Amino acid sequence: MSDFQKAYIHSFSLNPATDKEFFSYINDVYFTDEIQGMSQYPQHGAIDRLQHITSVSYVSYILAKKYGADLRQTLRGAVLHDLFYYDWHIAGDGSHRLHGYRHPGFALKNAEKLCDDLTGIEKNIIYRHMWPLTPTPPKYKESFIVSMADKYCAFQEVLLSRIPSYTDKFPLLANNNFTK
Ligand SMILES: [Fe+2]
Ligand SMILES: [Fe+2]
Repeated sequence: MSDFQKAYIHSFSLNPATDKEFFSYINDVYFTDEIQGMSQYPQHGAIDRLQHITSVSYVSYILAKKYGADLRQTLRGAVLHDLFYYDWHIAGDGSHRLHGYRHPGFALKNAEKLCDDLTGIEKNIIYRHMWPLTPTPPKYKESFIVSMADKYCAFQEVLLSRIPSYTDKFPLLANNNFTK
């Protein structure tokens, strides 16, 4: 099993008491009502957006350590990268048409409201995470890391949600019912 699969699986059982270093970078933002409230929105299959954000942040943490990126900015950007207040599966009133292209902008606005001290790197992480769907590439190592972690986690989420036998590869997740 690769380090990334291990990190992905571990992201389902993170504990502030035992994963102190990871949480030390994000305590101030991760436990806000806005981020915790992401649990009400589905992301892929039965996996909600808070779990997605958590997985992306933890996989980004492993990558940031490996490639010598700034841990605090990488993790804060990862926590905030999908901060939008709607279920993207539901068309609603049309205000989030073209969700894939537009939600990084929505997330950046919401993140700026939540945190008035965002750095340029953190803003770039949020705004460019959908590259290459949105054509301007990320500007910083930290932004590339979160963009790659986001795709990796989305891929795992789709496999877990669509292919029941895939959960067999993840013994720690076997008791969770990710398939609908
Ligand atoms: Fe996103
Ligand atoms: Fe995402």
